[in-house]
Amino acid sequence: MPIDGWDHIELYVGNAKQAAYYYERAMGFTPTAYAGPETGVRDRASYVLEQNDIRLVLTSGLRADSEITRFACTHGDGAKDVALEVPDAASAYGEAVQRGARGVAEPHWLEDELGRVELASIATYGDNVHTFVNRSGYEGPYLPGYRSVTTNGQTASGIGLKSIDHVVGNVQLGRMDEWVSFYERTMGFTELIHFSDEAIHTEYSALMSKVMTGGEGKIKFPINEPAEGRRKSQIEEYLEFNEGPGVQHIALAADDIVGTVENLGNRGVRFLVATPGAYYEDARSRVGEIEQDWEEIRRLGILADRDEEGYLLQIFTATAQDRPTLFFEVIERHGSRGFGEGNFKALFEAIEREQALRGNL
Ligand code: FE2
Repeated sequence: MPIDGWDHIELYVGNAKQAAYYYERAMGFTPTAYAGPETGVRDRASYVLEQNDIRLVLTSGLRADSEITRFACTHGDGAKDVALEVPDAASAYGEAVQRGARGVAEPHWLEDELGRVELASIATYGDNVHTFVNRSGYEGPYLPGYRSVTTNGQTASGIGLKSIDHVVGNVQLGRMDEWVSFYERTMGFTELIHFSDEAIHTEYSALMSKVMTGGEGKIKFPINEPAEGRRKSQIEEYLEFNEGPGVQHIALAADDIVGTVENLGNRGVRFLVATPGAYYEDARSRVGEIEQDWEEIRRLGILADRDEEGYLLQIFTATAQDRPTLFFEVIERHGSRGFGEGNFKALFEAIEREQALRGNL
């Protein structure tokens, strides 16, 4: 299936106005478009924010009987739609549905004086959807019906978050392979890497993960399921509080992770419990030479990993809302196309320290 790249990620939230303020002030996004009662939309308010190639849409429902309100009530604030840019939404939809995907919105065009956009959506795990977006014939800020909110039509430069790297889904125990084959069958994705539960195992809990990739490598969807451990898996904690499967984390690529992470911290973004000093003694010998200053990496709690192709630097935020569900990752790749396998143990131990603080371990 031809996919040109990520189009946007839409989060359904309890209060989009306040969430937008967080993504603007804390995460460095620029508000670019808006739709709501003031623009003739009666049932929702949607705020579009952008930073370089990343587009987030924050939507809340305005009535109790809204599907958006119900989603936010059931799952908490979280990702609803991981939307993909395609050359032809009708054919992407037709292909996926013919191969067993459930259609959610049939192909349709939205139009205004700036052109037209073709949309179609299919269901994936949990209450999540993938919308196929063909915006090749559109000049407006986001979609017809949205009002531009930038003064000069340009977004501010942001704080160095450049693009979406990968989006991770958590599914129930025993269901990972089903979703792997869903992406293979319906969207022509292939499996990139397989981590066994041996690889991602801490003293208490474990997970299994497979990475599906499509769009000639531009789209990467790791899918996790819990594995048996001595205590409750962090994936189980997610599934419990999210009331089912959903998006666990959104990884955003940076090209100056030190500057970006420092900036995020100054703006109030909280990262996972500090990485232990012992991690860096091990990491320096495991990863070897890097362009960055190890002291800076250590001071900011950034994790490092290396494989045959190169190295990567990454860090994970604390969860972005009260429920222990969605969080973000900042990643900078120097050749490595992995996901920080060497960091999984260190990372999961850090996550579990936070899980223990919540009394859920
Ligand atoms: Fe990740």
